[in-house]
Amino acid sequence: GLGTMGKNLLLNIADKGYAIAGYDKNPDAAKELNSAEASEKVKGFTDLQEFVASLQQPRTIIMLVPAGKIVDYVIADLKPLINKGDLLIDGGNSKFTDTERRSKALEEEGIHFFGMGISGGEEGARHGPSLMPGGTQDAYERVRPILEDIAAKAQTEPCVAYIGPGASGHFVKMVHNGIEYAQMQLLAETYDLLKNNLNLPYSEIHLTFKRWNEGRLKSYLLEISRDILSFKESGSDGYLLDEIRDVAKSKGTGKWTSQFAMDLQAPVPSIDAAVSMRDLSKYKPLRTALAASHPKLDASDKPGVATDAYLEQLEQALYFSMISTFGQGMHLLARASEEYNWNLNLGDIAKIWRAGCIIRAEFLEVISAAFQRDVHLPHLFQDIEIRKLLASTQPAARSIVSDAIHSDLSLPVFSASLNYYNSLRSRRLPTNLIQAQRDYFGAHTYEKSDHEGTFHTDWSAPIDS
Ligand code: 6PG
Repeated sequence: GLGTMGKNLLLNIADKGYAIAGYDKNPDAAKELNSAEASEKVKGFTDLQEFVASLQQPRTIIMLVPAGKIVDYVIADLKPLINKGDLLIDGGNSKFTDTERRSKALEEEGIHFFGMGISGGEEGARHGPSLMPGGTQDAYERVRPILEDIAAKAQTEPCVAYIGPGASGHFVKMVHNGIEYAQMQLLAETYDLLKNNLNLPYSEIHLTFKRWNEGRLKSYLLEISRDILSFKESGSDGYLLDEIRDVAKSKGTGKWTSQFAMDLQAPVPSIDAAVSMRDLSKYKPLRTALAASHPKLDASDKPGVATDAYLEQLEQALYFSMISTFGQGMHLLARASEEYNWNLNLGDIAKIWRAGCIIRAEFLEVISAAFQRDVHLPHLFQDIEIRKLLASTQPAARSIVSDAIHSDLSLPVFSASLNYYNSLRSRRLPTNLIQAQRDYFGAHTYEKSDHEGTFHTDWSAPIDS
């Protein structure tokens, strides 16, 4: 497919000196490839048979089509034309269970299949994405030089690594997107706090984001949010952001992260909250009606002024929440790796997210250093440096969240990030009551802390006092 991603990735490959052919049903897309912009190493086709015949064997074909049924249709069209030993790469955001199914079916016929997460949007595809390929290692070695050449570079290291077998590449990309949802919502909550709670003008919010982006919070998502906050269309006095409807869309990868995390029983509450907020935003008429019938607290109850000290606290709270979110995502990857025997190298994954992708951030250096200290780190929070960072920023997170809740503002991802941290470091949780309730109404039994075995109690029996 020679859409935005396909075309740009192809031109990126051509730039690195490789001969490459592109196919698209749309004759204009194929024709454009044969235009001046592309080098003579590029050729566009509208006939699938001619396209496949033009490739050197064993062939490598990257599909860049929307996730879902279309991937199956393209595979069905290609299958009669390709041979054993050829390699098909799905570079879209396919659901990892679909990739698993496709990969099994094709490998049985001797065709290699890769699910390769590609992050970085149009710009990334053209000038250096972060690549997350999963499949058989032998097949990876064949394409490794090309992928390393086209990937973004963090310092000098290419942002691509062999992720693991089966659908691991698409799983890792899915979790990348889940983290992306949470980080985006964190920035949206920060903007809400600054704009609607503290009444800061856009110019000041822009400058605050700009300053933060020069420090440890430096990230692509903060950088683009900074720019969005100062953007005015030519001829307009107002900020474009004010004209954008507050209803968020999504293509599914965030939701899948939450769904599969629940299947694996690896909680990612910050991602869950971010997905919920996009869904909640869709109920615009209901929100509008409830806003009228359940008015917000009076502005005089709000904490008010954006002092330097407050902004400093907010920076810390944002950093804390970012650590918590990454901690949840990395833990989900560790659980999936264990469950599916993928042998994921979380340090490598953190490294390839340092450039090119949407969640690239200065903090990924800290994560990759943590995994360098201990490749088998069970949870990011256990790393000594991360522990210190959480300890120093948690008071600010508590204060920002509680002030905001008190002021009738919703900070779902800040709160979820903090509650995750609070709960995960609780020696004792109130889940003993859950077990007792289950046993009370359903005789589901419970275990005791200091006795072996399972127990059931007749809870309605009279209590001797
Ligand atoms: C990336 C992005 C990309 C994703 C978009 C839109 O890594 O380049 O994650 O893959 O498709 O961000 O996602 P939603 O429509 O679900 O927000």
